[in-house]
Amino acid sequence: MAIRIMVGINNIVLAMREAGPLKMIVETLGFQHLDLEVTIPRVEVFRDAIVDFLEMELGERFSSKARSGWRSILNYVGGAYIYVRREYAGRLKIISSSWRTANNKKKDIMDGEEDDEDVEAAEQDGGGESGVSETEQGEGKGQAGSKKASSEAKNGNGSLASGEMNKAGSMKVPTTFNEMFLFNGAVMGFGSSLWMQEVLGSFDAMVTNVANSYRLQEECDTVSLNIAKYSSTVNLSEFKAVMLASLRSLVPTDWNSAHEVAWTWLWDNIARMLKNLLGKPAVQEKALGRFLMILTEDSQNYLRREIFKRFFALAPKGQDYFKQSTTRLYFIADKVTEMTLEMYRDPKKVVEDISALGLRHVGYGIPTEFFAPFVSGACEVISTMTTDATVEDAYRWSLNLVSRILVRTINEGSTIVMKAINTNNAKQLEKAVACAPRGKRSMWLLDITVGTQSISPLYRSIESGSLESAKAMIRDLLIIRADRDNYYYGADDLFTRHPDVIKRLCADAQALLPGLFDGLIWRSRVTQDGQRRVNFYIKHLVQDADGKFNKCLEWLCEAGGPEIMCHPVVELFSDLVWDGIANRFFMFGKCWFVFTLGLFIISQSVLQHFPESQGIRTSTMAIRCFIYFASLGRLFHAQLSEAIGDCRARRFIRLSGGIRIPAYLGMMKNAISFALMLCLMLMLAEEPIIWCAATYDPDAASKAAVAAAAAAASRLAASDAADSGGGGTSVYSSAGPVVAKVVVNHNANLFTQHCPDGAVNLQVYEPVSMVAMLLYWTLILDLSVVSTRISAFVL
Ligand code: HEM
Repeated sequence: MAIRIMVGINNIVLAMREAGPLKMIVETLGFQHLDLEVTIPRVEVFRDAIVDFLEMELGERFSSKARSGWRSILNYVGGAYIYVRREYAGRLKIISSSWRTANNKKKDIMDGEEDDEDVEAAEQDGGGESGVSETEQGEGKGQAGSKKASSEAKNGNGSLASGEMNKAGSMKVPTTFNEMFLFNGAVMGFGSSLWMQEVLGSFDAMVTNVANSYRLQEECDTVSLNIAKYSSTVNLSEFKAVMLASLRSLVPTDWNSAHEVAWTWLWDNIARMLKNLLGKPAVQEKALGRFLMILTEDSQNYLRREIFKRFFALAPKGQDYFKQSTTRLYFIADKVTEMTLEMYRDPKKVVEDISALGLRHVGYGIPTEFFAPFVSGACEVISTMTTDATVEDAYRWSLNLVSRILVRTINEGSTIVMKAINTNNAKQLEKAVACAPRGKRSMWLLDITVGTQSISPLYRSIESGSLESAKAMIRDLLIIRADRDNYYYGADDLFTRHPDVIKRLCADAQALLPGLFDGLIWRSRVTQDGQRRVNFYIKHLVQDADGKFNKCLEWLCEAGGPEIMCHPVVELFSDLVWDGIANRFFMFGKCWFVFTLGLFIISQSVLQHFPESQGIRTSTMAIRCFIYFASLGRLFHAQLSEAIGDCRARRFIRLSGGIRIPAYLGMMKNAISFALMLCLMLMLAEEPIIWCAATYDPDAASKAAVAAAAAAASRLAASDAADSGGGGTSVYSSAGPVVAKVVVNHNANLFTQHCPDGAVNLQVYEPVSMVAMLLYWTLILDLSVVSTRISAFVL
């Protein structure tokens, strides 16, 4: 601020010799003082302070002539401010009323008042109806535009847009200032002057804050940064021409020379502010970028450290807000420095970010008076690090802008509710919210919006640990209030603004859940036959905003608080969900599982006890195929999708050995399913039927018969020889005694499990199959919920 005052006085002194430039400078400054109540005594105090200061500093050298000169010029400037404020109040009124007209198109362009009311009513009704009236409205405007155009043509004072509109006939008529501006801009041949759109984007904020010099300056600063991104020549008078043409079209009935003067005056002042900045941002960005890029590690540390050191020296109380670790403070210092450069590089994004940051500072409860010393401290540090004035200017100007936007956001966002949250006192909060209108009470507690950013006081109080305030807020939201026409109950607003409120409370503030659920119950004071009516407002617990099934129950189960689960609201809504829908889905899902388990038991244990036949073997094989394809396939698919989902979202849990596994395996049921999948895969790999099938030989039966016959024949021959040799001697061939063998050839049996390879595999297969069976049974334990008695046993 001191620097701004110095620069202002310097400009006045430099322009003192020429009346024209001096008048212009003083007028601009007067424009920037419109929001301040400048009075004669205040001017005198300011003047005397400066003159006394000069006298003190210069001593003898400050002659009486110099003294009277300074007094005269400061009197002139102060008088001019008072004059500007008094005389230009009328202009401000004209600007604001015509701006409202230009943007509230219905009122001025529609033929009559009645139509306005219809349109407004239709708008309130919303949806399709409003669409219809929009169309009608468009037609109305078209007619009005034509009438206006013809009357103005007669007067010889028609605006460009009106004339073009007449020609355009069926063309869509621009109805807002922005549309009209773009239309006129294109017609006047400025379609390629894209910089105009940057000014247009901020024009509303400029006009509505015309009497707020700080805000206006802030808008001009950001616009100048945005314009700096365009290489084309910026001719500000072009904007003025299009602006006036558009306003003439949109404010046709009221427009007169006073309007012309007022808007010209406004634009000239804005243009002067913009002109002061044109060309500077590019140079400053380059200088600051270069300076920050060549900073060594030591210089960076110095900067980080000194920013806070100097800030604390300038504002010792600021230390109360920075009790974080050094690493965190260095991180903030880095961010601050980074923002000063980013402000030049991508002003739009940074302005958005600063709004969000400002709201976070509201949450931290930072008083705005700390910002000036913070900026001064940071600038002092930079000035000790460089001799390049451009770098210093660039840093100071950028950080100043950042700080001004932050302060504005904090001022706009610091509602009495936010201030009460910082005290974490329920009484304070109740007091703060007591003055809210009933219809807006809930939004006071749930939403603070500044620009495009918003925060929720409720969530902020949970984040900051102000649970007393949060509790009071939830209680206040869920009280049913009424006036003659309406009931007011914040449950809808709460769940619409925060669909995940239950999840949030489960994670961060479980103590608040009973209060929230209590608020969803209404009990009548009147009893009837010993009973009284109780209403449960559980709609939002059952379904979400899209009408889909809400995950409330899942969140509550994960939180695992038995006290919460026994709350009447949770009981009612969980019973409703279970009896109405979940029961059927659960049973359907489990039926499949029971069916698979049944088949598994049959294939592994039952069929083996039947005498072996081709039918039994084929059935065993068929059932096992079903298990491998249907059961294993389903398990594999489910596990794979869960694992991929967790990996993509980087959800892992770390086991004791440091091994990371996907988070879904943390749930017992999923881990058992995974183990079952592994068992089934192992069984498939070791399946004896498959291994024996490799040696299956369809002719093996006949070969076995031939071998058996040959063996029988040789046995017969041997006994004949013995008979002829006289008396009971065994016959030995060179190959030894001839023994008749019964040849059992399993290779002839399709789908047999009995073969040398199969026998080896069975040693692994059988134990794994037993484990798989156990896992199947474990997974089916869920079914116990259908019987309280079994559940009690299982639990
Ligand atoms: C131009 C001025 C300032 C800028 C650009 C600025 C910027 C920042 C940034 C970038 C953060 C980190 C936010 C995050 O990542 O969540 C932050 C946090 C913070 N700022 Fe500021 N800040 C400014 C002034 C101040 C002042 C004057 C104070 C208090 C006296 C203050 C108090 C804090 C606190 C308490 C935090 C939170 C630290 C934490 O997360 O533990 N800031 N500020």
